[in-house]
Amino acid sequence: MSALFSPGRIGGLDLDNRIVVSPMCQYSAVNGVAQSWHLIHIGNLVLSGAGLVIMEATAVEAVGRGTHGCLGLYTDAQEAALAALVANVRGLSRARLGLQLTHCGRKASTRTIPERWRGEPLPPEEGAWTPVAPSALPFDAGWAIPDELDDEGIDRLIGMFAASAERASRAGFDLIEIHGAHGYLVHNFFSPIANRRTDQWGGSIENRIRFPVEIARAVRRVWPKERALGFRINSTDWHPDGVTLEDAVLLAQGLEREGVDYVAMSAGNIAPGIAIPPASPGHQVPFATEIKQRTGLTAMAVGMIARPDQAEAIVAEDRADFVALARPMLDNPRWGLHAAAVLGVDIDYAPQYIRARPNNWLGFTYVHPDTRPPATTRQLDRPRSATWDRPKIG
Ligand SMILES: Cc1cc2nc3c(=O)[nH]c(=O)nc-3n(C[C@H](O)[C@H](O)[C@H](O)COP(=O)(O)O)c2cc1C
Repeated sequence: MSALFSPGRIGGLDLDNRIVVSPMCQYSAVNGVAQSWHLIHIGNLVLSGAGLVIMEATAVEAVGRGTHGCLGLYTDAQEAALAALVANVRGLSRARLGLQLTHCGRKASTRTIPERWRGEPLPPEEGAWTPVAPSALPFDAGWAIPDELDDEGIDRLIGMFAASAERASRAGFDLIEIHGAHGYLVHNFFSPIANRRTDQWGGSIENRIRFPVEIARAVRRVWPKERALGFRINSTDWHPDGVTLEDAVLLAQGLEREGVDYVAMSAGNIAPGIAIPPASPGHQVPFATEIKQRTGLTAMAVGMIARPDQAEAIVAEDRADFVALARPMLDNPRWGLHAAAVLGVDIDYAPQYIRARPNNWLGFTYVHPDTRPPATTRQLDRPRSATWDRPKIG
């Protein structure tokens, strides 16, 4: 029996296993509208064997986009493109589809050079705009000074998260994850490094979690009960003046009270130049474990989880409920299928690909010497996945 391949549940959403494709920006949208790249990218990932695929950070307003290529969900055209994408990949596998909603805060208006990993401020001649943030503090020297949001602006943005959630609901997503990490707007409010306000939105931890908690409340109000709502949060800023794990526990508890179903525990990126411990396999898993133990919330671990036996141990030892993988899935979009073979688990293949199933050819075992024989021997022509009998949602 594999823990990784045991069925999971997030809120009211049933999942086939504990493997999640972590959200990954593709910088390939036009005016925030999904393109054929997104269809191919997500279409590929729903065949990965993961139980859940979460689409990339998608902005709730134009000012909240990181780059000109970021997805948005604040116009009818953006909604229609995402609805078409969902309709097109729905039924290709049993994977559930999620969407991450974001606002980039003081890290908006950049151009991202994927191979250099980080963004850099967009020059005026490339259509730069002025970001917004809790305080008028730029991300770094040379970056735009954001406009400080007033009460009205904050309320409007909370409403934009809810409005995008309504659009995501109409588009047919099963899950929404709010991006509350990595130095973007929600995290800007949460972290004292980016939030120097002295009103009800800053200062004490109660005030700094107010913005994410209000977003959770507004989104939960419009997001159907049977669909899952999650939050990606920063476990630490790796800085003595920044967010601590104690803060993260309080935020997670506040979110749970608003009906958030899970938290994905990440870290870092509030500001440049902060010394962080070198990333090692599973380096952020202890954050998920701590949150899970202290709040009882469903916890997702992310960060350098690449080996099937490693992922299996994390779930089997109850260190996290779900494991989210980003780069391993880009590198190998059949990661889940291969993990099943390595762990001796019998899972469904798309019928079109069934001849590549490890028990149907020798190639996989040949290139993966640690592969144990598949648990069962199956008939090559057994029509296992021709039709998916999926429960309807919404
Ligand atoms: C190409 C790429 C794009 C990413 N975009 C997002 C994103 O949209 N939202 C997010 O929360 N994290 C994003 N991340 C971070 C990943 O979700 C993940 O947390 C990180 O890569 C660590 O996991 P890994 O070691 O499995 O890659 C991105 C990572 C990559 C490699």
